Amino acid sequence: MNREEIRIQVGSWIAILMLMGIYHSCAPPIEPLADNWEKAVPYQKTPMGLISIKAKDCGICHQEIYKEWQLSTHAHAWTDLQFQAELKKESSPYLCINCHIPLENQQEFLIKGLRGGDIYQPVKEANPNFDPELQLEGISCSTCHVRDGHIIGTNGFTTAPHPVRVDTAILNEQLCMGCHNASAVVTPELVCTFQTGDEWMEGPYFGEKNCISCHMDTITRPLMAGLQDRTSHRHWFPGSGIPKRRGLESKALQGMAFYPDTLASRYDQGDSIRYQLKLVNEFAGHRLPTGDPERFYLINLRWENAASEEVVKNDTFRIGEEWVWYPEAKKVADNNMDPQESRLFITMISPAEKGDYNLYTRVTKHRMDPKTAAYNNLGNEYPLFITVFDEMQTIQIQ
Ligand code: HEC
Ligand code: HEC
Ligand code: HEC
Ligand code: HEC
Ligand code: HEC
Repeated sequence: MNREEIRIQVGSWIAILMLMGIYHSCAPPIEPLADNWEKAVPYQKTPMGLISIKAKDCGICHQEIYKEWQLSTHAHAWTDLQFQAELKKESSPYLCINCHIPLENQQEFLIKGLRGGDIYQPVKEANPNFDPELQLEGISCSTCHVRDGHIIGTNGFTTAPHPVRVDTAILNEQLCMGCHNASAVVTPELVCTFQTGDEWMEGPYFGEKNCISCHMDTITRPLMAGLQDRTSHRHWFPGSGIPKRRGLESKALQGMAFYPDTLASRYDQGDSIRYQLKLVNEFAGHRLPTGDPERFYLINLRWENAASEEVVKNDTFRIGEEWVWYPEAKKVADNNMDPQESRLFITMISPAEKGDYNLYTRVTKHRMDPKTAAYNNLGNEYPLFITVFDEMQTIQIQ
């Protein structure tokens, strides 16, 4: 390189640096946070009379409710293996945490705005009130019950050692919908879609039963051991019951009802044998599956020759959504079942050989397919499905 070349080289570096400087001075402005998901629930101070707003401290007095909540998926909304795996990906914006650890007290950083309005460029500042223990609790008591130094309740005549404000405008199904009814295109290949709320509003239960009446059973019990009975609600928040970790106990609701045919015990050689399983979404107030679009049901109808264990026929049906994620997230198919909808699943055989035949009917509910689980490195700890119906019938061909 001669002197002239060096001069040009240096000159162009200066030009580049100047350009960068100029670029810097007109860097996109910091825009304030806009809609709901961009913001955390503002900092909540501990109501008078309490030592903290952590669930474990509410649980000192509200022991039963605390134990119920511990079994709920809400209590694992932060520690969930899949959530943690997804959060580490660059494609996941900061705002993912706002429904999983919604209180500012649970978040390590305060978000002061977005550079150029870009959700991948949050302007962060250390949060002096960050409580790491409260973070681990995910969707905790305080998410739903603590506002402005008060405990939000629905009774109001109780003798609580903490200030109580009755506010049914907070503790109602809108609270659930705030997180369970979201439809946002974050980036072209990342969309957030949970329509459980819309499905419920469009369905037959609207005005009759809601998220709380179906998911929080009413019981009569004291709110603290030794006190008088009150109207209370279970805090398990049961869903489909696919545990979040192997061995973890979880409460479940059953939305599907199953109506299998009963086969005759004997048929003649050459008969055409028809079997049907009827599924009815009888008990869920929304479609099934609902929520996360990765969920699905498999209905497997399998005939085996009882003596040889040879599979004679194997029919599998799927209920769920199908998406393509690249280059743009798009739903390509959806046969989820509406509330009260019924559907038939049919299999037919006509065995040529005499002997006994077993029909296995098995319905499984899946959180995700094995490919997605492997992609997220979820390993063996993460149960992928549960069996919700399992039956065997034997027939004889004579
Ligand atoms: C020192 C014991 C104690 C602690 C700690 C405590 N509570 Fe309470 N709480 C009570 C008692 C006692 C009542 C009233 C029971 C009654 O009169 O039947 C009550 C009532 C309530 C009610 C019902 C209010 C209403 O009128 O509907 C809610 C909701 C509640 N507590 C939530 C919480 C939450 C959330 C926490 C933790 C942030 C918490 N409590 C911590 C003792 C406690
Ligand atoms: C702050 C946001 C938020 C609020 C408010 C909220 N949820 Fe959730 N809920 C979640 C998240 C996030 C999960 C999933 C956690 C996970 O899978 O790790 C969840 C899970 C559930 C599940 C279990 C689903 C399963 O697969 O087991 C049910 C049922 C449920 N919520 C019902 C409710 C009801 C009823 C209410 C209102 C009383 C409510 N939720 C309020 C965010 C919320
Ligand atoms: C996802 C929101 C949510 C979470 C999390 C939650 N609760 Fe509740 N809780 C409610 C709702 C909704 C009601 C009122 C139901 C009604 O009256 O219709 C309620 C009612 C109560 C009551 C009044 C008595 C009763 O059972 O109705 C107490 C006490 C209470 N919760 C304590 C707690 C404690 C303690 C925790 C944490 C261990 C907790 N809650 C977690 C939503 C929640
Ligand atoms: C009529 C009763 C009813 C109503 C109303 C209802 N649910 Fe459900 N929900 C169920 C049943 C039953 C299931 C269990 C489905 C199954 O078999 O897996 C369920 C499952 C769920 C699940 C787990 C979804 C899955 O596929 O694993 C979530 C999340 C949920 N409900 C949230 C809500 C929310 C939020 C509302 C209010 C907008 C609501 N539910 C209203 C009965 C109801
Ligand atoms: C609008 C509130 C909201 C936001 C924002 C949100 N989630 Fe969730 N997330 C939920 C709810 C509600 C559920 C439970 C859905 C259900 O069970 O039907 C959930 C469940 C999950 C689950 C468990 C899925 C399963 O099958 O059990 C994972 C993982 C997850 N979210 C990751 C993320 C990631 C990553 C982001 C950011 C891209 C994010 N969430 C942003 C509300 C939210």
